[in-house]
Amino acid sequence: MMTGISSSLGRLLAPLSVLAFAVAAQPAGAEDAAAMKASEHIYDTYCAQCHGVNRNGKGVNTVGLSVQPRDHSDTRGMSSIPIEEMTKAIREGGVSVNKSALMPPWNSVLSDEQITNMVAYLRKVCRCDTPQ
Ligand code: HEC
Repeated sequence: MMTGISSSLGRLLAPLSVLAFAVAAQPAGAEDAAAMKASEHIYDTYCAQCHGVNRNGKGVNTVGLSVQPRDHSDTRGMSSIPIEEMTKAIREGGVSVNKSALMPPWNSVLSDEQITNMVAYLRKVCRCDTPQ
């Protein structure tokens, strides 16, 4: 009796585990590309006004700022910022890493995952992981 139930359960669950495998085995590249695209869109929405549409720190909203926004295309400058500091600066604002308060906190706008993805995106923009 019990074996009958468990074997039919097994038959029911087998396709499920195949499905789970198929989802897990999705190419990582596709997921990365989607996250990069999403970060690019977030950047254009929230960051470009200061950091520039060209990611060079020369946004339209920088006239008269006493501290100029970071040039995100500057490989050497960006490489010098530890990933944890970059994450914290974006999450909690410039002040949290002893930088300017003109860099706003984004934790009420962006999720932790979006911030993590943004850091990965910035590392790509600055070509920080590409050997020079
Ligand atoms: C209102 C203008 C403004 C906006 C909008 C803005 N930033 Fe900034 N950001 C700054 C300024 C100014 C600095 C330089 C702070 C300093 O060096 O003291 C900075 C610095 C940074 C840094 C370097 C932090 C460090 O530790 O040196 C990162 C990374 C950064 N911004 C990411 C972002 C991201 C991502 C967004 C959008 C989600 C964003 N910023 C939006 C003004 C801005």
